[in-house]
Amino acid sequence: MAQAPETVLVTGASSGIGLELAQVFATHGFDVILVARRKAELEALAERVRREHGVRATVLPADLLVPDASAALVHVLEEQDLEVDILVNNAGLMDMGGFADLDVAKHERLLQLNVVVLASLTRRLLPSMIERGRGRILNVASTSSFQPVPSMALYAASKAFVLSLSESLSEELKGTGVTVTALCPGITRTDMYERAHDEHDIVQNVPGPFLSRVEDVARQGYEACVAGHAVVVPGLPNRLVASAVQLYPRWLVRTVGGFVGRRSTR
Ligand SMILES: NC(=O)c1ccc[n+]([C@@H]2O[C@H](COP(=O)([O-])OP(=O)(O)OC[C@H]3O[C@@H](n4cnc5c(N)ncnc54)[C@H](OP(=O)(O)O)[C@@H]3O)[C@@H](O)[C@H]2O)c1
Repeated sequence: MAQAPETVLVTGASSGIGLELAQVFATHGFDVILVARRKAELEALAERVRREHGVRATVLPADLLVPDASAALVHVLEEQDLEVDILVNNAGLMDMGGFADLDVAKHERLLQLNVVVLASLTRRLLPSMIERGRGRILNVASTSSFQPVPSMALYAASKAFVLSLSESLSEELKGTGVTVTALCPGITRTDMYERAHDEHDIVQNVPGPFLSRVEDVARQGYEACVAGHAVVVPGLPNRLVASAVQLYPRWLVRTVGGFVGRRSTR
């Protein structure tokens, strides 16, 4: 008897890396559950993957920043009898500038979405994966997870949390049938990149080899997730820098980061 297709839930599926990840999973025959605030974008994506790949696509519009959003989302999944085999924690916010100058409410939203919601959704969906003896979690971190980034201090700290949590869980869950992967993209051409590009000179000066295509990031994230790898850094230049910062002394990495970062906050 043919096996039922597995179902992947993608947060932040209305644009950028999340949209592309949902498409890659659908291309490989996975049913998709699409979560974000912009319902029309999710509906359009659902319609496209149903038509092009014959998969089941469920749209669950949600603002993950409302209180108890992850509990509410899991409740809807239970009501609709939707089992999640793969959780993709992709929704995230980014902010750049001097830490003391940035909007406090924006800071709190970034921490809530990048850290609290990601950990909470993982905690809520993990037990049923362990019970079934299979499951995958793909957490979207960043190359900024590997070192401090002055001028993006809170964002980098939130992504260091994502990498640390993912690596801890990938070891903790060995033998359960559940794997956890941290996808660590460098700068990738998405709406998030376009917004930063318009507002910050430093982003406009990023050398071409360090700019990733969203299709490449999603494909490599998908491949690492299904293979159960713990960490993936798309793009050779990004991999080289991520490896180098782990080899050099921390004071040196911090000092170089400070030199670059301070230029962008003044
Ligand atoms: N682009 C880069 O250079 C880069 C590099 C490294 C890592 N990343 C990470 O990649 C992930 C995706 O970013 P992206 O570049 O693809 O940016 P994006 O195009 O701006 O996508 C962000 C996604 O998050 C969703 N989202 C934002 N606030 C939400 C909320 N309150 N509730 C539910 N969903 C929400 C957005 O959907 P709605 O607006 O429809 O809600 C959107 O689908 C993020 O975690 C980001 O930190 C990006």
